[in-house]
Amino acid sequence: MTGDGFAATLYAHWLTGFQIVKQLDWAALQQAAKDAAAQAYAPYSQFPVGVAVLAENGQIFTGCNVENASYGGTVCAERNAIAAAVVAGQRRFQALMVYTPQTKLTPPCGICRQVIAEFFLPDSPIASCNHLGEQQSWSLQQLLPDAFTPTYLAASTKIEKDV
Ligand code: THU
Repeated sequence: MTGDGFAATLYAHWLTGFQIVKQLDWAALQQAAKDAAAQAYAPYSQFPVGVAVLAENGQIFTGCNVENASYGGTVCAERNAIAAAVVAGQRRFQALMVYTPQTKLTPPCGICRQVIAEFFLPDSPIASCNHLGEQQSWSLQQLLPDAFTPTYLAASTKIEKDV
C-alpha cells in the first residue's frame, strides 16, 4: 500500500465515544518521520530510523535512533519520539509513523512495541514507510497482542489490598 491517497479515519474514543474527528494526514507524518531519520545517529548499524507520532492534541513529535559505542545504550527512534511528546505534556496519541530507507518496511522492535502500548490505544494505527513512498500499517493490537499494560498493575494492587 502506498501513502498516496490513503487516509485512515480517526475516532476519538476516549473523548466522546466513537465520533469521527478527522482524516489522518499520513503524508505529513511520513515527511516528519523522514526528516527525523536524517538526524539519526547510527554510526554502528548504518540503519537510520525516524519516527513521527501524532499526539492527541494534533501536534507531531519526532525522534531518531541514537546509538552508543556501548551498544546497549542505543535508544530507538520510537522511544525518543514518544519521550519528546511526553516532556511536552502529551501522553495520548493517535498514530505513529516509522521511516527507514529500506525496501523492507520496518515495524517497531519489541521493546518499542511495549513502550507504544503504554500510551496508545490497541487499535491505534502504527505505520511504516520508506524512501520509495511505500507504506504499511498495523494496529498496535496486531503488533503486540495481549499487551502488558498499566491496567494489570492497578489490578494487582487491588488484589493485594483485598487479600
Ligand atoms: N531501531 C529503531 O530505531 N527502531 C526500531 O524499531 C528498530 C531498530 C534502531 C536501533 C538501532 O540504532 C538500529 O535501528 C539497528 O537496530
